[in-house]
Amino acid sequence: MDSLRGESLSTSNARSVEVYDSALKAFNIYRGDPVAIIDEALEQDPDFVSGHILRAQVHISMWERSVVPEVEASLSHLDGLHNSSNRRERAHVRAIKQWASGDWDGMRGTLDRLSAEHPRDLLALQIGHLSDFYHGDRENLRGRILRALPAWSRDDQGYGILLGMLAFGQEECGSYGQAEETGRHALDIDPEDCWAQHAVAHVMEMQGRQAEGIAFMESRQANWAQEDNGFAFHNWWHTALYNLDQGNAARALEIFDRGVRPEPSEIQLMMLDAAALLWRMHLQDLDVGERWEELSKLYQEADEDGFYAFNDMHAMMSYVATGRGRAAAALLTAVEQAATGEGTNAKMTREVGLPIVRAVEAFGRGLYEESVELLMPVRYRANIFGGSHAQRDIVHRTLIEAALRGGLTDLAQALINERTALKPHCPFSWRLHQRAQA
Ligand SMILES: [Fe+2]
Repeated sequence: MDSLRGESLSTSNARSVEVYDSALKAFNIYRGDPVAIIDEALEQDPDFVSGHILRAQVHISMWERSVVPEVEASLSHLDGLHNSSNRRERAHVRAIKQWASGDWDGMRGTLDRLSAEHPRDLLALQIGHLSDFYHGDRENLRGRILRALPAWSRDDQGYGILLGMLAFGQEECGSYGQAEETGRHALDIDPEDCWAQHAVAHVMEMQGRQAEGIAFMESRQANWAQEDNGFAFHNWWHTALYNLDQGNAARALEIFDRGVRPEPSEIQLMMLDAAALLWRMHLQDLDVGERWEELSKLYQEADEDGFYAFNDMHAMMSYVATGRGRAAAALLTAVEQAATGEGTNAKMTREVGLPIVRAVEAFGRGLYEESVELLMPVRYRANIFGGSHAQRDIVHRTLIEAALRGGLTDLAQALINERTALKPHCPFSWRLHQRAQA
């Protein structure tokens, strides 16, 4: 049977297709729980191939070790359904298998091919877009959507979702004007498209438009910060960042408590945003009270070391900030080991993850020159381990702070010059400038 956009799903159960469309919609706008929705269909229709696929891809979108058993459970169902799957579904299964085996690059390649053949498969586009994000692949963040767009028309349900993704890709490619226009167009189509909201937030972050950013986020809060919005924490993170860079740390902490970390979640994506905000404050010697403690404890309890380099960096920040020397040493060993392995994370870790994790650890021990030595060669290649420019700014901030603290004044000033030139309206950059001058 055909889904909303005409992809063929291997089932004769109309209700399954209907539920699939609503689970996908929930995933598109990060509202509610797409897994719980699709489970309703799978209960009635246990051989619903695309249902198992959607379930696996939603888990994969979290990009952490804890979801691997769930993904493998979906794969074992899908293996038994091979003969009743169509070509598009088999390509998804191949991509899911590649992810589960650690071949994330292979997965992205499979999704590239799948989307070339089935450009209206919105699930493939979205999981592909998120995978590109986890690899900092800015060209494909934009290119994947541009390649599919001609197969869509403005009246298609989900067209705005494509524009939201395209806007983020354009922003990561540095086309800020285009990105803002595309993102605002997506918001006109669906004001609740929190990914499009986020793309425009990124434009404002990159252009140092903090005051405008705060107004843009706060005035539209009802559209992206709903109770059941699974992405609200990250849009709150951007809002907190604007406030922090404006020098309003108290407001940033209020937002931290209310939106970034309203409860002690064990989801790595949420943990890393919390760590990233607190680390920015740590670099500025700001008092954040007890906020690091529960976070760092959860990092220590989680079994995620060495799974994904970008998460490892944030875990190390929490250990350094709380003086967890033993956890830091164990993480370092795990990351060193991950670097010798196979698969995409091993490559990310070898090339940028390990030197950055070492640099953060060295920073924690007051070895600032060592930290600078480690960060300088990788600061422009850090996209390899994923995240956005705004997230990876933490690497540049750590480098500048290490240079300042290590007495490498000329280097610090030079790096700050670069920063003030790129973001001339960002008050934080000018505060750094004043410190270097002093
Ligand atoms: Fe972001």
